[in-house]
Formats: sequence, C-alpha cells, structure tokens
Amino acid sequence: MDIEFVRSRFIKHFDGKTGNVYASPGRINLIGEHTDYNGGFVFPGAVDKGVMAEMRANGTEDTVMAYAIDLKDRVDFKLSDPNGPKASWARYIFGIALEMKKLGVPVKGFNIAFAGDVPLGAGMSSSAAMESCFACGLNDIFGENKVSQWDMVLAGQATEHNYCGVNCGIMDQFASVFGKAGCLMRLDCRSREFEYFPFKPDGYRLVLLDSVVKHQLAGSPYNDRRNSCENVVKHIQTKHPESKFETLRDCTWEQLDEVRAEVGEEDYKRAKFVLGEKDRVLAVCDALNEGDYEKVGEMMYKTHEGLSKDYEVSCEELDFLNEIAKENGVTGSRIMGGGFGGCTINLVRNDLYSKFIADAKKRFNEKYGHEPKVYDVVIGDGSRRIC
Ligand code: GLA
Repeated sequence: MDIEFVRSRFIKHFDGKTGNVYASPGRINLIGEHTDYNGGFVFPGAVDKGVMAEMRANGTEDTVMAYAIDLKDRVDFKLSDPNGPKASWARYIFGIALEMKKLGVPVKGFNIAFAGDVPLGAGMSSSAAMESCFACGLNDIFGENKVSQWDMVLAGQATEHNYCGVNCGIMDQFASVFGKAGCLMRLDCRSREFEYFPFKPDGYRLVLLDSVVKHQLAGSPYNDRRNSCENVVKHIQTKHPESKFETLRDCTWEQLDEVRAEVGEEDYKRAKFVLGEKDRVLAVCDALNEGDYEKVGEMMYKTHEGLSKDYEVSCEELDFLNEIAKENGVTGSRIMGGGFGGCTINLVRNDLYSKFIADAKKRFNEKYGHEPKVYDVVIGDGSRRIC
C-alpha cells in the first residue's frame, strides 16, 4: 500500500497537517479453523495486504473525524456518544478507541483516514487488520505504547464482540499484531503460547482462490457455531462434574460420544469437526518439522471435508474450487477463515501451479459467470508504525 496516497487524502480531508502512519495486515491460516474459541491451536500468518491509517490528535476532548478513503465516506462522532456511529467501518474505530480507553489509554479526539488492500469478505480478516492498525495508532499517539501486544489483540477481539456482533476467537487479531515476514505461527489459544515457524516450502507455493462470494458473520451462523460448541461442553461438564471442562479442547472423543444423543446430531457434528481439527493441527506441525508437505496437504483436504459436511460453513462455490484442486493433483486445499464464502487456501506444487490456476479460472467462470480471484500468499509483518 502507498503511504503517499493515504497521506494525500489525510491532508486533503482535514486541516492540511500530517500525522503518523500505521499499518496492519490481514492473515491466512494454514490449518486450525474454528479452533481458537474452542481453546485449540491455530496456524496463521500475516499477509502482505492490510490496512494503512494516518492518525493525529485533533485537540478536541472526544471528537473523532474519520475518513474511509476507499469508500469515500466521512463520519464524525463523539467517543462519549453511547450509541456510536452507524457506519459499520466507523464502528471499528469507535469500538477500539473505547477498548483502548478501558486499558488505561487516555484517548482524546483524533483525525483518521485509512485505506486497505485486504479483499473484503475473502476470509482474510480485513476487520482484524483495521482493529490492530487503529489500536497500534492509539497506543502510540495517546498511550506512550504502554499497552502490550497481547492487550491490543484482546482489545480487537472485544471490539468485535462488543460493537460488531461477532463472537470471534483471537486468531485474526493475534496474527495481525504478531505477524512476522516469512513465518507462520502456531498459537495455543488456551495458554496463548506461540512459536514462529519459518515457512519456505521447497517446491511448493500457497495460493488463495477467492470465490468472491461474500460472507456475513455478524449476528449470525458464526455465533451459532460457537454456541453449539459451548452447548456440547456444558453437557459434558454436567456428566463429569469432577473434572474441569472449559472448552472442547478439554474433551475426548469418548466424552463427545457420551453426550451425542442429548446434544442432538447438529451440535454433535460441530464438536466432531473441532476435535478432529485439534488433532490435524498437531499432525501438520509434525509434518512441517519433517518437511512432509504431502501430509500437510492431506490434512488440509480433511479439514475442508469437515468444514463442509460437519461444521457446514462451506458453500457450493468453495466446494467446487476444492474439487478442481483435487482433480488437478493439488497437494492440499480447503476453505479458509470463518466460512460462508471467501477463499480456498491451496498448497500446490510449483510445476502444477499454472495449469491449476488456468483450469480453476476456466471452469469456475463457465459455472458461475466470473473467474475466482487469485492471490499468491506472501507472508508479511504484523502491526507497525510506518512514519
Ligand atoms: C473468523 C474469526 C476467527 C476464527 C475463524 C475461524 O476469522 O474471526 O476468530 O474463529 O473465523 O477459524
């Protein structure tokens, strides 16, 4: 993204003065889907696409003047307004400002203009990119950078929960804040311990195919999935009052089978996916350590099947892209992110890449009247001040 572009709009839309510029990325996730809010493992990395914002204190007590450059939309609001702004993009600014205040940052009025190149609705978490970018800026401008990276991650998540209606886990905000060029990260979402994994798969590349089917997580099927998982945990807890069960991470296959009849088939299937995914992430870690990318790919296909049949967050277009990958001999392919549209992530051998992309474009276009978008994955750095 271009600093001069963001700066020129910031100057034009406000009082001609410059501010500080911050950037935060979107993310990919190799494997470990819908495991974050179940206390499991995830395997994300930041990408080279994200959000860039120029910000400056404007001398008012609590008036925020915000400009979304890509939408050409200007919204002014007060941090003291109990309802906050209506525009969905402005709610991320309002939410993160209040969450940073809760963390002790004396946020006052500020001007902000921002732009992004994370494709919206592609499952690459443009929303986490916004949250962590704005958090990074507010921490720097008003908070002497005293808020820790983890607290910024949690402030981003709380923004989703409290102002945007999505009860998400911590994967996206974590990846956006902690990302490191060339590295994926294995995060244990229960203990919050994580490790950087340099990711240079010799002879393979990662590519996203965006179905351009938009997903809407707010108020929605995403929260229903989470409720199903929590319901299963409650039932297992009741059966085993002596043990401490907090999330599906703590549950075994036997315990899940014990409550199958009482939780019903739908919730059972949701939990079944999560238990399987927990095992698959660990298998992928071992496979990566051994450089066994064929095994990684095999796990990705299994994840897709689980997300499609048991978690039911796929859609016809994504299943079709997955099928095309399989038929082209692609090593691994699966829906990525929350689901209900967006991309597949594909681990593909270099020698198959061009043929696969050409075939996917052709067949998808024949069936749906437009080509999928293609994004080669470049693993980039996390949130930072640019200037
Ligand atoms: C969305 C959420 C994340 C995570 C993924 C699914 O991206 O924001 O917390 O649950 O879906 O893995």
